Amino acid sequence: MKQDELTQIPKVAFFSTQAYDKTFFEKYNSDFGYELDFFESQLNEQTVKLIATTDVVCVFVNDIVNQSVIEQLVEKKVKVIALRCAGFNNVDLEAAKKYNLKVCRVPAYSPEAVAEHAMAMILTLNRKTHKAYNRVREQNFSLNGLLGFDLHGKTVGIIGTGNIGKAFAKIVKGFGCKVLAFDLVPNEELVDLGVNYVSLETIFKESNIISLHCPLNDTTKYIINEKSLSLMQDNVMLINTSRGALIQTLDVIHALKRGKVGYLGIDVYEQEDKLFFKDHSEDIIEDDQIQRLMSFPNVLVTAHQAFFTNEALSQIAITTLSNIESLLAKKEIDNKAALLV
Ligand code: NAI
Repeated sequence: MKQDELTQIPKVAFFSTQAYDKTFFEKYNSDFGYELDFFESQLNEQTVKLIATTDVVCVFVNDIVNQSVIEQLVEKKVKVIALRCAGFNNVDLEAAKKYNLKVCRVPAYSPEAVAEHAMAMILTLNRKTHKAYNRVREQNFSLNGLLGFDLHGKTVGIIGTGNIGKAFAKIVKGFGCKVLAFDLVPNEELVDLGVNYVSLETIFKESNIISLHCPLNDTTKYIINEKSLSLMQDNVMLINTSRGALIQTLDVIHALKRGKVGYLGIDVYEQEDKLFFKDHSEDIIEDDQIQRLMSFPNVLVTAHQAFFTNEALSQIAITTLSNIESLLAKKEIDNKAALLV
């Protein structure tokens, strides 16, 4: 590296910035001393023009980092694309490799945060605490319509038992559920805890509750579709805190109408990049699928908030800044799972 490059303070440009990103990154940047530029816009082919030259771009789940964006990042002298999240389906890794850009992520900041949110969705859908809260405030103490079921003894199917799926399996075990799991690589610790690895088909057929914790890729896209839904028990509960496109939304809407799906909890949605993380309370929403979903009384939508805990945001900031430091200094990271390219 040339001397002038060594003495310059590296610049990091953040996209899709929310107030809390700024708070946590500014707090932990005191240990790193980078120049931080925060942009509220999503990164895409148009907004990439917002940055002049910069060393690093820091992106989140709905930023679009395709070949065209990457080509423009190269022109702006970017060396590192730092994801401040675990999933990386929104980045063209092949293109990054081709242009010699490093790409890193935060593989496990707080798996418990996401797993606990999945359980919160299950409990809300089941025991209808959201309705009870509103009812009693209006002095309506009736229980009609609030009937739930015991989780104890029910069968929970988990698809993907990595960091989050594993944390979730432990939680549902604690509730006394029978736990079935499907993963390409079974986790021995979970087997010892009594989790039963079975085929995907068995998960679909035998589970009362199915929770998705696998990444989005070519093999998992629309894993919940008309065919898999037809194998499921009537009144099944589906929980998706992973990525929206694991679910074929129109097929699930049909299954909700038929009563095949009795409860749906989604923290992610295929078209979420146009909606989530923003206040649209004064807008006309043109997306009819999300509007239809939100009209069902047995559907709970949260806006990609499963990760949103104090502990997770601290860890995200620390790991992202450490990843950047390692990549700018020596072009590798000790935590191999954090380095994507
Ligand atoms: P991880 O990489 O630790 O685990 C993913 C697991 O899925 C691995 O065990 C892998 O073998 C398995 N898998 C891969 N392909 C599969 C397939 N075809 N069928 C079944 N299993 C398969 O990832 P982690 O940290 O557990 O995160 C999982 C996903 O959760 C991420 O990819 C991300 O999309 C999502 N996520 C959502 C958040 C939210 O706020 N809603 C926050 C963080 C992650």
